[in-house]
Amino acid sequence: MNSSNNNEVLTLSGIILGVGLVLIVAVVSLFNSSSSEEGKTTTDTAESAAPVEDINTKVASLAEPQKATVLQGHELFQGNCAQCHAINKKVVGPALKGVMNRWENEAAIVNFIKYPEKVITGGKNDYAAKLYEEYGQMMPNHDFFNDEQIKSILTYVKFESGEEIAMK
Ligand code: HEC
Repeated sequence: MNSSNNNEVLTLSGIILGVGLVLIVAVVSLFNSSSSEEGKTTTDTAESAAPVEDINTKVASLAEPQKATVLQGHELFQGNCAQCHAINKKVVGPALKGVMNRWENEAAIVNFIKYPEKVITGGKNDYAAKLYEEYGQMMPNHDFFNDEQIKSILTYVKFESGEEIAMK
């Protein structure tokens, strides 16, 4: 009688231990799966914050010649502007999202990108002077580009800003 009682106690504690283990495993794997879900979300956000990676996918639905223009602009932006600018966040210079709306017209912004120092110190453009005051660094000249190249960069910026790409 006594030994069978002991056996029952042993079996019971075995069951309790077993159930405990199963619970622990279940909880741990729940945590794991939820943290890997979080990991996925973070990667997704990082991808959308860095629009450069999947440009080919992004432009897939565009018709020519817009597609070619955006791709050219993207390439020039990566090589000449991305070290100081992003679309959605401030880097060395301002975030460029919606920048076309902050300038009088396309000619004015093209001229600024070519000759920022002239525009900033020229005394005729308060907005440019204020920008320089705010950022404390002179953007270098880009007079080695022709207007068509700069316009392609601006078309790319518009595209990434979710704005309509008007073709002139
Ligand atoms: C070395 C850093 C640097 C590089 C490279 C650079 N910029 Fe800039 N950019 C700036 C800074 C700083 C400003 C703010 C104005 C100033 O202080 O010159 C600015 C301002 C601007 C503005 C006006 C922003 C606004 O909010 O109105 C535009 C547009 C612009 N840059 C476009 C470009 C383009 C396009 C390129 C590449 C062809 C480029 N920048 C390359 C630093 C840079």
